[in-house]
Amino acid sequence: MTNSVENLKNAFAGESQANRRYLAFAKKAEDEGFIQIAKLFRAAAEAETIHALNHLRILGEIKTTSENLAAAVSGETFEFKKMYPEYLNIAKKEKNTQATWSFDVANKVEQVHAGLFSKVLEALKTNKELPKVDYFICGVCGNTVEGSAPEKCPICGAPRAKFFKVA
Ligand SMILES: [Fe+2]
Ligand SMILES: [Fe+2]
Repeated sequence: MTNSVENLKNAFAGESQANRRYLAFAKKAEDEGFIQIAKLFRAAAEAETIHALNHLRILGEIKTTSENLAAAVSGETFEFKKMYPEYLNIAKKEKNTQATWSFDVANKVEQVHAGLFSKVLEALKTNKELPKVDYFICGVCGNTVEGSAPEKCPICGAPRAKFFKVA
């Protein structure tokens, strides 16, 4: 028998995945010329996000920003120190080159995220003013770069044109 806390956690994971899955399906529907169906996928994706956020709020997992930053650092650190290295080993053993690539770039980017979050958390703790910077994301590997987009992504090699600025 599961309890409601466990169920909220599972439902949060499932709704979060449904959100990203429907957005991917919407993109595919658009590519295939199904504009109305794309819109329905995007509508359902928005609704799944609301469900996910309701579950997360009720779980009490949205805390103060400083606590949230600490949670982010520990999540990212777990991913690049433990989870992805294990996944990478298995993917390499299986000679699954696509999974190896996907885990490898994610692993490297999570390390970047841990660093960015730590830096901001430190500044927040010491009341240092945070410099206003823009963030650029590599559309291929998710690399997250402060300041300006690099000529070439240092993680996946994609050209500058693949980067987009976070609003
Ligand atoms: Fe990350
Ligand atoms: Fe990249």
